[in-house]
Amino acid sequence: MALLKLARMGHPVLRGQAMEVEDPRDPEVARLAADMAETMLDAAGVGLAAPQVHEPRRLIVFHLPADRLEEDQPPEPATPVVLVNPVLQPVGDDIVLGLEGCLSIPDLRGLVPRYATVDYWGIGLDGVPVSGRAAGFKARVLQHEVDHLDGILFPDRMPDLRSLVFTSEVHHLLNDVGDQA
Ligand code: NI
Repeated sequence: MALLKLARMGHPVLRGQAMEVEDPRDPEVARLAADMAETMLDAAGVGLAAPQVHEPRRLIVFHLPADRLEEDQPPEPATPVVLVNPVLQPVGDDIVLGLEGCLSIPDLRGLVPRYATVDYWGIGLDGVPVSGRAAGFKARVLQHEVDHLDGILFPDRMPDLRSLVFTSEVHHLLNDVGDQA
């Protein structure tokens, strides 16, 4: 396994449309996913999309810490989850404003509106389709990562760029929005 170089905002690979993965069982795809997982954990991230490591393909990994999951959500696996060719569908109209960061935009955080609940579909590295319903933090992470596959970064989703702040100043924002973020 290897740590991969992270693309930072401004690199064109973050702005393109990523390509479908033709064969999720290709060992080369498994190697990329393993390296992405290692890179994500090393950078203390909760999600990573392949374009962020200069691979314009529709592949994401995520790993949600137990203390960020809502009480009514099922536990997450202990190891990072890989989703190939993920697709999302919002469930209902509920929108939640919450704090996001991105490994491609280091040291910044912003308040981003996201659907509270989404259904997701994808394929695992074993070629088997996976699907489920995600709410809260997991729904947010999935929307953030799938946006990367379409060249969208979280500031693009922000209705008010005044809430784009440095991580060291984020407590000012939290004072404003209470426990929403
Ligand atoms: Ni990101």
